[in-house]
Amino acid sequence: KYEKIWLFFGIGSLFVFLTIIGVSAFAQGNQPPSCLTTIDPEKVDETPPFNKPGLVKTGDNEYQLNIVASAFAYTPNQIEIPKGAKVTINVTTKDVIHGFEMAGTNVNMMVEPGYVNSFTKTFNKTGQYTIVCNEYCGAGHHMMTAKVKVV
Ligand code: CUA
Repeated sequence: KYEKIWLFFGIGSLFVFLTIIGVSAFAQGNQPPSCLTTIDPEKVDETPPFNKPGLVKTGDNEYQLNIVASAFAYTPNQIEIPKGAKVTINVTTKDVIHGFEMAGTNVNMMVEPGYVNSFTKTFNKTGQYTIVCNEYCGAGHHMMTAKVKVV
């Protein structure tokens, strides 16, 4: 008799659990992550802020770094960031999927045509970083780099 009660609880809680998973998966599947904005990949050069790529001051010690990736370069590819700056990096591509990895940091994004990917990082130390493409994008993939200097 007790066994039946336990069995009932077991199946009941399993059902509740699956329902929660199902509902949350459905809810998440219906909206893209908040960090993603869409953009027309053919109009990147005309779409702000990517019509003027580079570092823009947005507040006290706060900056936006807008970068355009295309085969096989980043624009701009020489960037200077003041030490202590909180930088929101926005990156998009004009052609195919690229990577955006700042070697030695936790900055690592995929760059997809049609989307803007963002990541915010505070640069507390002076030094140099190399941005590399870590998604194979064609014959010049291995040459696709940019330099960041924190001064
Ligand atoms: Cu761009 Cu690999």
